[in-house]
Amino acid sequence: MSEPAIRAARSDDLAIIEGLLRTVNLPLFRTADFLDTFWVAEAAGEVVGCVGLEVYDDAGLLRSAVVTEPLRGTGLGRRLTQNVIEEAKSNGVRELYLFTMEAGPFFGHMGFEKCTIDDFSENGRKCTQWIAVNNNPEIVEWLTSMRMMLA
Ligand SMILES: CC(C)(COP(=O)(O)OP(=O)(O)OC[C@H]1O[C@@H](n2cnc3c(N)ncnc32)[C@H](O)[C@@H]1OP(=O)(O)O)[C@@H](O)C(=O)NCCC(=O)NCCS
Repeated sequence: MSEPAIRAARSDDLAIIEGLLRTVNLPLFRTADFLDTFWVAEAAGEVVGCVGLEVYDDAGLLRSAVVTEPLRGTGLGRRLTQNVIEEAKSNGVRELYLFTMEAGPFFGHMGFEKCTIDDFSENGRKCTQWIAVNNNPEIVEWLTSMRMMLA
């Protein structure tokens, strides 16, 4: 298989993205509303990965990063993450956040640092995931929150 190409998501990718999220038990959290800032990786006509960005003024949330199992460990997760970091920078994001259940070590390797939900800036607290976590403190222990300061 040739190297997957990363492209902006289209409306007809929505069901596929939601399917990818379900396979790894990630929340769908208004995916359709943010489809304009989702990207997919495509190889041989098949979607093999996705990632999303939510922008709230100078704060951003990296979300929904998935690589299909056969392609894990091939550098695609890094490319998708790097794509979001570059897009966030060009959208004026200065602090990029994320929540993850299991991929903390991967994102740490990508340069994110652990933080608490109290570290989220005022704009960072506008994202649906922060609101959900803040309203349900019992799920905090299942999640790792992380941030990256962008120049
Ligand atoms: C997290 C995920 C997207 C990573 O994608 P991937 O394509 O396997 O990652 P890559 O191959 O690009 O890895 C890039 C680097 O991170 C490292 N890495 C990958 N997974 C890692 C992990 N779990 N812990 C530490 N490092 C990890 C790789 O060794 C590689 O290092 P190198 O470039 O220095 O050699 C993928 O494992 C996945 O889809 N997981 C399930 C969904 C999920 O939990 N998503 C996060 C929700 S926000």
